[in-house]
Amino acid sequence: MTDVIRLLRREHSNIAQLLDVLDRQADLLGRGEAADFDIIEAIVDYFLGYPNLYHHPMEDLVYQKLLVRDPRTAALIGDLRREHEEEAARTREFAAAVRAVLEDVNVSRESLHERASAFIAYQRRHMGKEERLVFPAALLTLTQSDWADIRARITDREDPLFGRNVGNRYVTLRRDILDWARIARSD
Ligand SMILES: [Fe+2]
Ligand SMILES: [Fe+2]
Repeated sequence: MTDVIRLLRREHSNIAQLLDVLDRQADLLGRGEAADFDIIEAIVDYFLGYPNLYHHPMEDLVYQKLLVRDPRTAALIGDLRREHEEEAARTREFAAAVRAVLEDVNVSRESLHERASAFIAYQRRHMGKEERLVFPAALLTLTQSDWADIRARITDREDPLFGRNVGNRYVTLRRDILDWARIARSD
């Protein structure tokens, strides 16, 4: 496997953990219990940043190469770049809904629960599609020089949540993720 796909898969598993944390908060909202809005805000903030800046653009590069090498498969998969635009728009909408609840504007917690569930489902579906269809097709058809090209166009990335240096606003969230991971392992 190339290091490009390995990195994308690692980021998927990070994002999957994050969605699990959000899912638990959404559950609390759905049951009318107190959710942790610091955690929810930090998650939304992360989604607005790192994945949009680095993760999806890297996948777009892979998809562009796939379009050239195997246009039929790329067409069957559908336009990944458009999906990323849609994903960015959905993230912004969800972020606005979270802000509205925090500012007490006209959005009920129940409706936030529904929006959170829809957001989580979309993200999981999108990642599943990439894992199932995009990555295997790219691994099958892209050449060494394609991968080298992609690697050369990747900018330095510093993941503020899962990287070595955790940003101030993500410290609690990172601890929460690690706690849940520990609990899941001991189950
Ligand atoms: Fe993606
Ligand atoms: Fe992805």
